[in-house]
Amino acid sequence: MKHRFCPGYDDPPFDDLAGDYPGEDVYPAEDFRTEWGPIFHRGRLDGSARVLILGQDPATHESITRRILVGEAGQRVQGLLARLGVTTSYVMINTFLFSVYGQSGGNRHIKDSAIAAYRNQWLDALLVRDEPEPALCAVITLGSLAKSAYHGWATTRPDRAAALHLATLKHPTYPESASAKGGITLAAATAALLEDWNAHLAGLRDHVPPEAPVIDKPYGDTWQDGDLVAIPEVDLPAGAPSWWTSLEGWAQRTGTTAQLKRATITVTIPAAARTWPPIGD
Ligand code: URA
Repeated sequence: MKHRFCPGYDDPPFDDLAGDYPGEDVYPAEDFRTEWGPIFHRGRLDGSARVLILGQDPATHESITRRILVGEAGQRVQGLLARLGVTTSYVMINTFLFSVYGQSGGNRHIKDSAIAAYRNQWLDALLVRDEPEPALCAVITLGSLAKSAYHGWATTRPDRAAALHLATLKHPTYPESASAKGGITLAAATAALLEDWNAHLAGLRDHVPPEAPVIDKPYGDTWQDGDLVAIPEVDLPAGAPSWWTSLEGWAQRTGTTAQLKRATITVTIPAAARTWPPIGD
């Protein structure tokens, strides 16, 4: 069986962007998990993307796979794209290149000019391509930090921004983060997220040409079977094990102290992927 894989960053301008990324002078290690390295993108860099997704910051699964939005948040987004009839014609970057450490790190650095300058280079590379009819016609932002980051870029390229459909969605993990802060239950926050996503579906369908049949069905008020979609193999680096695309979580931060937890991601192959012969214990 022949595998498809993400070819990476060989072509300009992505070779320079991946080679020359900001370090700890720009992303301070108190607020970002710089030790896990930068994680740049997921999806098509060849100009074929129809929609750009701007997420927030990478988490555990992304730190292992070296592509963004691969864990549960990414699978929720992949399901949203499936509803639009988009299976691979997208590209995703995050607001922050490194995982945010601590509650308020993201808010504290959203206006940093050096962070924005590098992010805007990526947005220019993806959104301002010198083509008669650029394929990319819509932008989806996930959460308030991504929305603010996008508006920052849009002021630098008002003409291009005016030609793009913009959908500013709640972040896919809004239910977990909002309910953890208190004041709303997980169930109510999930219903609020799905209502928000439903409200954007029609506008997105009007602007993003589908590559597969559109799933013309709104979300319910809880997650249903089929709402999460596995990450396609073509988005992952060559040789990625098949369970990296699994819908089951397989990476988590572990450790008995804050020190150890920052230093450790435990990877556990999902039960369904343990295809080796039976082992005694
Ligand atoms: N993982 C990402 O890469 N981005 C997000 O916004 C959330 C999870």
